[in-house]
Amino acid sequence: DALAPQLEAARAEVLADAELWAAGAAVPEQKEPLDAGFHLLPDRLLAELKEKGAASELARLKATADRLAGDCKSVVVLGIGGSYMGARALLESCCHPYYNEVPADARGNRPRIYFEGNNVDNDAATGLIELLKSRDEPWGVVVISKSGGTLETAAATRIFLRELAASAGDKLSQRFVPVTGTSGKLFDLATALGAPEMYDVPDGVGGRFSVLSAVGLLPAAILGLDIEKLLAGAKAMNDHFATAPVKDNVVLKYVGVSHLLEETEDCVTRILSTWGKRLEAAGLWYDQLLAESLGKDERGALPLTVVNTRDLHSRGQQHQEGVRDKLITNVIVEKQDSKPLAIGKLDLDGKAYNQDKLDELAAKTLPEVLTAAIAGTNQAYAEDNRPTTDIVMPELDEHTIGQFLQMMMLATVVEGRLIGINPYGQPGVEAYKKNMNAILRK
Ligand code: PA5
Repeated sequence: DALAPQLEAARAEVLADAELWAAGAAVPEQKEPLDAGFHLLPDRLLAELKEKGAASELARLKATADRLAGDCKSVVVLGIGGSYMGARALLESCCHPYYNEVPADARGNRPRIYFEGNNVDNDAATGLIELLKSRDEPWGVVVISKSGGTLETAAATRIFLRELAASAGDKLSQRFVPVTGTSGKLFDLATALGAPEMYDVPDGVGGRFSVLSAVGLLPAAILGLDIEKLLAGAKAMNDHFATAPVKDNVVLKYVGVSHLLEETEDCVTRILSTWGKRLEAAGLWYDQLLAESLGKDERGALPLTVVNTRDLHSRGQQHQEGVRDKLITNVIVEKQDSKPLAIGKLDLDGKAYNQDKLDELAAKTLPEVLTAAIAGTNQAYAEDNRPTTDIVMPELDEHTIGQFLQMMMLATVVEGRLIGINPYGQPGVEAYKKNMNAILRK
């Protein structure tokens, strides 16, 4: 309640920023660009689909994805930071947990997806090239770089394009789809290579805010995900954010709790506690979003994603008894996709085994064990006055992950408004790039 007027004001400013972007108006003078475009992108893309049908960007994205899926058994997605994390989050949250390993028909005959160009790792790049060669199957490349000049991605692009040329021959340009700005080095390279299809990262949409543009949507469509459902989830979150009163508004409540605990209790570490492996990459996407957006002017909370119960056996001790500087946000998915596995009895060849003394839990299923772990962990935190908050998702699919991604992007810009930090731009990242380039070119 104490913070409600400030949250209302921050929401109004964020909504006004989006309106300015939608109107194509010049944004007020800022230290860095005010890249508010992410906010209304879902609404805009869905409206365009309705209006223009096959000529819309969404329809074109799907057509490109289907063509690539028809032509290629594997697709290598090159990109780093905001040009990578979102696509990985969509793969891990919405696809089969062993997507690349299962037989093609179990993944709807869509291509395997590999991520590269997100590091400078000779062994990883070599390993992937060896794997692709060993399969002797057609593959393709999607390069995602808004600036078109990020060295990690640009170097990988050269390396993988050479390999692709050797494998695809004169079909090279058809197996290579760039997602980039409307000008720049990657744009020029793709034009020179005659790439028939290219996608834009729209103006006013910053890297880590671009998951719901072609940056995340093209890989998602290649995976066969329902990208309209994804955008509809994000749009639903936009509508909720704009209209729900502060006390019922998930975006504003999350910002309010996080901000107050930071200001009044020194909770400068934000643990995103995901209960299940499928949300790990979404958590890492959020780590980047928060760190790169608000970690400025010697401010900004430290985000840290954990996957439980796995990390209860590594970081749990510190979260339970370490420095009192943490807010733990549980991300809980209520319903799992798969049929519950029971612990069951261990009867092998007619002989019963109970040396592990688990017979008394035989009727329990893995979801029941997880529910008990969530309750037990949070009870222990509560008993020691360790603050927690919960984000509950009824299930994990394109709609709910679309809601989650949009919720966290909105929360980040609202918090930026609240603390007077421009969440867009990442001037601190430029320092290493400048030095690295100078060292390389000496
Ligand atoms: O969030 C951001 O803006 C960054 O993480 C960028 O996405 C990242 O640096 C990659 O930039 P680019 O897409 O220009 O290659």
